[in-house]
Amino acid sequence: MTRHALPVGLFGLALMMAGAAHAQGSAGRGGALVERNCAMCHSVGVRGQSPSADAPRFRDLSKRYPIEMLEEALAEGILTRHPAMPQFRFTVPEINDIIAYLNSIQSNQKASFKR
Ligand code: HEC
Repeated sequence: MTRHALPVGLFGLALMMAGAAHAQGSAGRGGALVERNCAMCHSVGVRGQSPSADAPRFRDLSKRYPIEMLEEALAEGILTRHPAMPQFRFTVPEINDIIAYLNSIQSNQKASFKR
């Protein structure tokens, strides 16, 4: 039994660290990241249409699912149904920044993390 205690403890610690890092996301840095990596296809601001007609406006993403659900997808460099997209690989701080930025622009504020 005790053999399992360490891995579980480390996993819990990792979760706590992820939680702490999450609070540090900077919407300003996240905005610059999506401007550079996503804006050629997506509308990344509070107004304007997406350059690629199929690409959802970022401010509408929380109408589909909680923004936090994108954390894992971004971390793995995978976004489902994203055939035309280059492979992205962001660091954890970068992902926190992007999530903070996306939360800050949602048109549907009720569904997003920050109310
Ligand atoms: C080359 C164009 C292109 C780039 C660059 C791009 N996207 Fe997309 N993205 C699309 C298209 C097109 C869709 C719609 C795909 C579909 O629903 O079939 C999409 C869909 C999405 C979705 C919704 C996925 C879903 O399953 O609901 C998210 C979230 C997303 N993109 C995030 C990003 C982020 C974050 C970046 C920058 C890091 C980015 N995209 C860069 C073209 C792009």
